[in-house]
Amino acid sequence: MNRSHRVLVVEDQEAVRRGLEELLSEDGHRVATASDVESAVARALEFAPHLVLLDLNLPDKNGLELIRELRERGMDPTIIVLTAHASIDSAVDAVQRGVFDYLEKPVLPERLRAAVARGLERAELRGEVDRLRREMMRGGRFEEMIGSSPRMLELYRLVDQVAPTNAAVLILGESGTGKEVLARAVHRISPRASRPFVAVNCAAFPESLLESELFGHEKGAFTGATAARVGCFEQADTGTLFLDEIGEMPLEMQTKLLRVLEEKKVRRVGGSREVPIDVRILAASNRDLDALRAEGRFREDLFFRLNVFQLETPPLRERMTDLAALAEHFLRGFLEENPSRRTTGFSAEALAFLKAHSWPGNVRELRNVVQRAAVLCSEGEIRPEHLPRFGEAGRPATAPADDRDAVSIPVGSSLSRAERELILRTLRACEGNKPQAAKILGISLKTLYTRLHEYEAGSGGSSERDGPDRGGIR
Ligand SMILES: Nc1ncnc2c1ncn2[C@@H]1O[C@H](COP(=O)(O)OP(=O)(O)OP(=O)(O)O)[C@@H](O)[C@H]1O
Ligand SMILES: [Mg+2]
Repeated sequence: MNRSHRVLVVEDQEAVRRGLEELLSEDGHRVATASDVESAVARALEFAPHLVLLDLNLPDKNGLELIRELRERGMDPTIIVLTAHASIDSAVDAVQRGVFDYLEKPVLPERLRAAVARGLERAELRGEVDRLRREMMRGGRFEEMIGSSPRMLELYRLVDQVAPTNAAVLILGESGTGKEVLARAVHRISPRASRPFVAVNCAAFPESLLESELFGHEKGAFTGATAARVGCFEQADTGTLFLDEIGEMPLEMQTKLLRVLEEKKVRRVGGSREVPIDVRILAASNRDLDALRAEGRFREDLFFRLNVFQLETPPLRERMTDLAALAEHFLRGFLEENPSRRTTGFSAEALAFLKAHSWPGNVRELRNVVQRAAVLCSEGEIRPEHLPRFGEAGRPATAPADDRDAVSIPVGSSLSRAERELILRTLRACEGNKPQAAKILGISLKTLYTRLHEYEAGSGGSSERDGPDRGGIR
């Protein structure tokens, strides 16, 4: 914690005020004092305290009044209340006004120190979060992350909380959901942002090479080691190390990794010197680490080391409201790289088409689909014919059956039931836009209305029909 914390002591009894001032100064804090609410406000304005130790019974007003007066002036320091007459009522009142802690006098120095330390930690975090939020408003720190769906907003909130700390973060999520993008965002808004970010894909190396990749090696450590090499840990020193696909790490390496994390020292392969390292660890996996642990393929103790804080990147199908923004984002990127193209955007049908797909490959799949479409469509809007025919063939058998944006029809269903399912799901994907849904389904608007009428009448589409549109359903 930095040394220049400012603490304002508001206390009318001189002896107590002096005592507090002395104690806090001894601990290295900068201290200012006031003996009533009015002078406290004046003092706070010039001193800008991080924390206020506040007596409740002051000669001019109730101490809690100070909180309101400070807020009115745009100040919001962390408040710790001290009182000789603790009562449940005043404690509740204090908490409601956002008081951080409530101590009864006489307070033991140790208790006070602990409360002040926690309060300052909170003040520091809060200052950091405020700064991040301001930057985010300006579109700064999460610039690479597209998405304002509830799932993403929740994720940003958690990132805000964890990024300023040094805690290890485990990022879990399906393939292509943006785990690496997220890891970079955590680094970028952490105090280590100006220090290195080093990513290692643990699945990309055979075991023998992974060790030297992570820890480095000395010259001659093994055949082919013609020169010494600095490992990722050393490269990431004072910064962040991102261990991608951690679930693929062989058990023996897991043991070595755990030791390094615990001792905060690495020894290069073939070396004897231990190098102290200071890295923040982010790890990611698209594997079910619980299952791997249960099978004994992932060490429990390593898991707990890495899983201090967990972030989950949601699958695209659970944040379909972000789809259009993501698609636009990738198209824009493509057009920047290929300025001669005259693609203007997506037609409503194309977007509805994209929304009707379940995206097993998540954001990465979407990016590929958009790039392909942009290649095919050199001018004007991207239309359904520029998109792949997302079909049964392309969909893995494991795609969840209850997926909102996929149609799942059990073998043995009647055609009319399948038709009904398809029509209703497509309509939903088009957000109720019937002409659009009819177009995608390849049926006339009239037929669509007729079917919807039947479904509404409760027939459930159970009667087999023959009609000119039957063959038109894709
Ligand atoms: N929220 C997002 N905003 C913008 N682009 C994103 C977002 N999420 C993912 N992407 C893009 O999608 C692609 C896949 O992202 P990333 O590599 O981070 O996924 P991943 O979860 O690490 O996948 P894997 O498990 O396969 O390694 C990248 O091109 C990335 O830029
Ligand atoms: Mg990845």
